[in-house]
Amino acid sequence: MKNLKKWMCAAVLLLAAGAVQAQREATPLDTLALTPPMGWNSWNQFEWEVSDSLIREIADAMVATGMRDAGYRYIIIDDYWVGGRDTRNRLYPDPVRFPNGMKAVADYVHAKGMKLGIYSDAAELTCAGVTGSLGFEELDAKTFAKWGIDYLKYDYCHAPSDRTTAFTRYKKMGDALRASGRPIVFAICEWGGRSPWLWGKAAGGHLWRTTYDSRDTWYSGDANLVGILDIFDSQEGLERYAGPGGWNDPDLLMVGLYGKGKSSSPDKRFAGCTDEEYKSHFALWCMLAAPLIVNNDVRSMSEFTRQLLTNPHLIAIDQDSLGRQGYTFMRSDHLQYLRKELSNGVAICIFNRSDEPQSFTLDPVRDADILYPAEVVSAWSGKRAKKGVVRGVLPPHGCEVLIYRRK
Ligand code: GLA
Repeated sequence: MKNLKKWMCAAVLLLAAGAVQAQREATPLDTLALTPPMGWNSWNQFEWEVSDSLIREIADAMVATGMRDAGYRYIIIDDYWVGGRDTRNRLYPDPVRFPNGMKAVADYVHAKGMKLGIYSDAAELTCAGVTGSLGFEELDAKTFAKWGIDYLKYDYCHAPSDRTTAFTRYKKMGDALRASGRPIVFAICEWGGRSPWLWGKAAGGHLWRTTYDSRDTWYSGDANLVGILDIFDSQEGLERYAGPGGWNDPDLLMVGLYGKGKSSSPDKRFAGCTDEEYKSHFALWCMLAAPLIVNNDVRSMSEFTRQLLTNPHLIAIDQDSLGRQGYTFMRSDHLQYLRKELSNGVAICIFNRSDEPQSFTLDPVRDADILYPAEVVSAWSGKRAKKGVVRGVLPPHGCEVLIYRRK
């Protein structure tokens, strides 16, 4: 009898342990980033100028400008925030620029209804040369969780170039975040060189950069530096790897920088884009189901930039719950036609790649197999558009975006 009791006790304990394990496996981490993350990042506009006061001002501006309510929820502090490690190896922020510590910043951002992101690197040093996380993954993940961090961008400067090491280092941090007890979005940033779309999810990533750093220019023309069109072209074929919980990340939005960013505008050749180009940049990134992370100074952005970044029709395309990345289905001399499947229809983008205005025609039945009765809305105006054959003229580098909603 005594033995039976003991045995039953052990069985109950085993069952309970199993339940805890199962719960751990179904952590809220798996339901993070079911749509592409949206937010603000400090990098191109501010670089080393990140500080407690800047982040608070940005959080206030995100609310005041309607950016938060349009869906931009993550405020991400990029490189240069680290002060060092204390005697117990715990990371601490630069004491001059973050005099109240990082938890105070997180509390402020949370109180504004937003989330806080931070940055580190899978090596001893970050790209900017401050302390990275290699060898301290568990401790750093716990520290981030304790501060109330919701998103980690994890860079790959000063790390070996092979894919196996990259996977191992990213998985180490992915596992550490998972074990930290806090749901933290994990943004892999190794610039696409090791095809992270093949292993990013297995390493615990919710998004993975597919490209080197974007410059604030339409087209780079420089073999070593990428502009918006270069990046857009390099995304072709990656659509099969994106979906709820794991996204291709073609880098930050250049919209609104107008050449004022630091590393995004290293010289005069990268002095920004025209408004038409920023419009296409935003629309194309939405068609690609890209994470929408702005990095302009939202405290002083123009009404044009604000309206573009908060366009509800384009954001709805990006954030559609089906989670499909758009792809090119038709080309003509200067035009490229993309489609993105939506939970209730399809979005079509007609994009003029050339430096001249171009006229276009779209027959939704013949060209895009839209056979069902649909309501058609132009993403720019939000107004109903023609159901049948559509014709128009696109400005240089401009695009039209039509949403066909099933009835
Ligand atoms: C790399 C990343 C950038 C930025 C910088 C910070 O270049 O790709 O996005 O985070 O590092 O130093």
